[in-house]
Amino acid sequence: MSDNLHLNIESMDATHDAFLALLAKIQSCSESEFMPLFEEMIAHTQEHFAYEEEMMQRLNFYGRQEHLDEHANLLGEMQYFYNKAKKFPAFGKSYIHEYAYDKFKRHIINIDSQLAMFLKENELSLAKGISTCQQVK
Ligand SMILES: [Fe+2]
Ligand SMILES: [Fe+2]
Repeated sequence: MSDNLHLNIESMDATHDAFLALLAKIQSCSESEFMPLFEEMIAHTQEHFAYEEEMMQRLNFYGRQEHLDEHANLLGEMQYFYNKAKKFPAFGKSYIHEYAYDKFKRHIINIDSQLAMFLKENELSLAKGISTCQQVK
């Protein structure tokens, strides 16, 4: 897990780092900790996605619908594997060990990055606006 997945938006990076730390923990946990940590990962992801979704709505972000669909897919899949793991632990383990990281990495690189760019561009245009006003004076 040595990829740099930072988008240079502090709040998003902190949430993504927390997710990756939780994933690393569940990947090396004991048998008895596995399901409780899996539950914690679902709760963390719900909060993570809700945070981004609130921001997209507030800013009327152009790529909102695509992003919402991706969140619904990722969360649905995570919950599916969690439920499967109750009867068949191997399903949950293969998701945690073989899929979860790549799924999230792809989401951050392809989808969250668009939101991060939008946030940066907005700040940039705001900064330009301020300097233009100063020039007019
Ligand atoms: Fe995210
Ligand atoms: Fe996202």
